[in-house]
Amino acid sequence: MSTAKLFEPLTLRNGVVIKNRIYKGAMSEGMADKSHRPTRELIHAYKRWADGGTGLSITGNVMVDRRYLGEPGNIVVEDDRDLLLLKNWAEAGKRNHSHIWMQINHPGKQSPKSVSRQPVAPSAIPISGSAGSAFNPPRAMTSEEVTDTVNRFVKTAVAAKKAGFTGVQIHGAHGYLVSQFLSSRDNKRNDDYGGSLANRMRFLTEIYTGMRVALGDSFPISLKINSTDFDDEGFSFDDSIAVIKKMDELGIDHIEISGGDYEKPKMMGNGEVYFLDYAEKSVRQSLLRLG
Ligand SMILES: Cc1cc2nc3c(=O)[nH]c(=O)nc-3n(C[C@H](O)[C@H](O)[C@H](O)COP(=O)(O)O)c2cc1C
Repeated sequence: MSTAKLFEPLTLRNGVVIKNRIYKGAMSEGMADKSHRPTRELIHAYKRWADGGTGLSITGNVMVDRRYLGEPGNIVVEDDRDLLLLKNWAEAGKRNHSHIWMQINHPGKQSPKSVSRQPVAPSAIPISGSAGSAFNPPRAMTSEEVTDTVNRFVKTAVAAKKAGFTGVQIHGAHGYLVSQFLSSRDNKRNDDYGGSLANRMRFLTEIYTGMRVALGDSFPISLKINSTDFDDEGFSFDDSIAVIKKMDELGIDHIEISGGDYEKPKMMGNGEVYFLDYAEKSVRQSLLRLG
């Protein structure tokens, strides 16, 4: 991207304008207090990013359920109990006309032993490979738990809007719960949430439509999704394109492309641009509109 373009505003499909293309992607801060609330240090970091000229900051992943953390020090938002602190966080991120969107996540089976005795997942399939020893084997979620978790994502998004965050991002990448539902390797359910790709994306589409109804048409909702999980069995390039098409039809405002999980941790690379090829192919297929 040329320097001139970097400083041009980006207008989303719902008309919301982001002042430039400087984007701070989600980086789990691990800076919550013992009750999983934002600390002064965390809020200060967002103030510095906003004052520095960032157009949009996506927060590190915020958990929807304190029983299942991605790592110690995660922020958890289940309801309005910490609204005042969340307001301070949003205010810091909105300085200098910046946007701050809360990334919302559930780790599923990627909840390490140090924080989770028994994680939950679409199916009881443990994490394989060298990373597996850091995680207890998961149990399969009941259908009531699936519904409860969809509602939790929506509730967290509603609290984010109430606190003044200017958008939300559903974390559908990196092998966490949404991505586990999408993957035919992780998801062997034989109910409405497993089997065909249409069924495997139901967990995501229910979260999205629930949020859209609760947040309204003009509130930005983003999805972070894997281009592929680098494993032909689970979630392929074509699956990813099909999910993006569906989310586009449903009205998603923004999509961030990533890739990898704890078994194939491409997202922890050392600076290579892994996803450029995918971005170019998607644009050639006219699926994504570049701002
Ligand atoms: C310390 C650290 C923490 C991260 N935490 C998150 C996170 O909470 N949520 C997320 O979606 N990605 C997270 N990521 C991944 C980055 O947002 C990004 O997707 C990844 O580094 C790939 O970068 P690229 O898309 O520029 O290639 C984290 C990365 C790092 C280095």
